Amino acid sequence: MQAVWVVVICLVGGQLASATLCNNHGTIPGIPGSPGRPGSNGRDGVKGLKGEQGPPGQVDHKGDMGEKGDPGEPGYPGKIGPRGPPGSRGLPGPIGPPGPQGDSGDFKDTRKSAFSAARSLSSYPRRDQPIRFDRIITNEKGHYENRYGRFICRVPGIYYFTYHVTSRANLCLNVKKGRGGSRGEKVVTFCDYVQSSYQVTTGGVVLNVAVNESVWLEPTEKNSLVGIEGSDSIFSGFLIFPEP
Ligand SMILES: *[C@@H]1O[C@H](CO)[C@@H](O)[C@H](O)[C@H]1NC(C)=O
Repeated sequence: MQAVWVVVICLVGGQLASATLCNNHGTIPGIPGSPGRPGSNGRDGVKGLKGEQGPPGQVDHKGDMGEKGDPGEPGYPGKIGPRGPPGSRGLPGPIGPPGPQGDSGDFKDTRKSAFSAARSLSSYPRRDQPIRFDRIITNEKGHYENRYGRFICRVPGIYYFTYHVTSRANLCLNVKKGRGGSRGEKVVTFCDYVQSSYQVTTGGVVLNVAVNESVWLEPTEKNSLVGIEGSDSIFSGFLIFPEP
């Protein structure tokens, strides 16, 4: 039995114990040796399972907000909108400046007509043609046209026409009235029959003349009317009453 125990000791104990004790058979067993030093660390174990998700973290919002930025560039103009309804009527404008002074209200200023014209041509006037009394003596308002020898009415009313002409032989004159370039109508005729001497013959008539009607003198074939220095021939006319 003891031999077995020693073998066990020698097998289990350290080199020092076995060297001294185990070679001495038949002696008293020694005191067990002190425990050996701890062994070195083992290798890392297998990786563990993934843990549960943790609680959400705290965010400091004040810290996250930056400063206010500069305004952006203006955008492109938008499309033209539809036409709006007409606005309400505006207030009346201010009173305008006074107009220019009107024509004189004087009756005599606006409705006047009178003329007197002499013939300064020594030749006899042509038969059945208006006699030209070319030299104007009076032509108030210019209603007598000395180029044609006609009075043309611009103020309708009652007129008096008269002539005082010098003749050297037989003379018959018609007073005629008509429009435009027409031959006109004979109103009255005056005749004087003389031989080889000068004389003044005269005639006159009161006529109602309408606007644009003309009045003139016209000789027949007896046309010995002259207008020479010292022996005048004149044709005259004037308004007596304008048409109301
Ligand atoms: C008179 O004649 C003028 C043109 O010379 C014309 O304008 C006017 O209408 C005429 N008046 C009448 C009443 O015929």
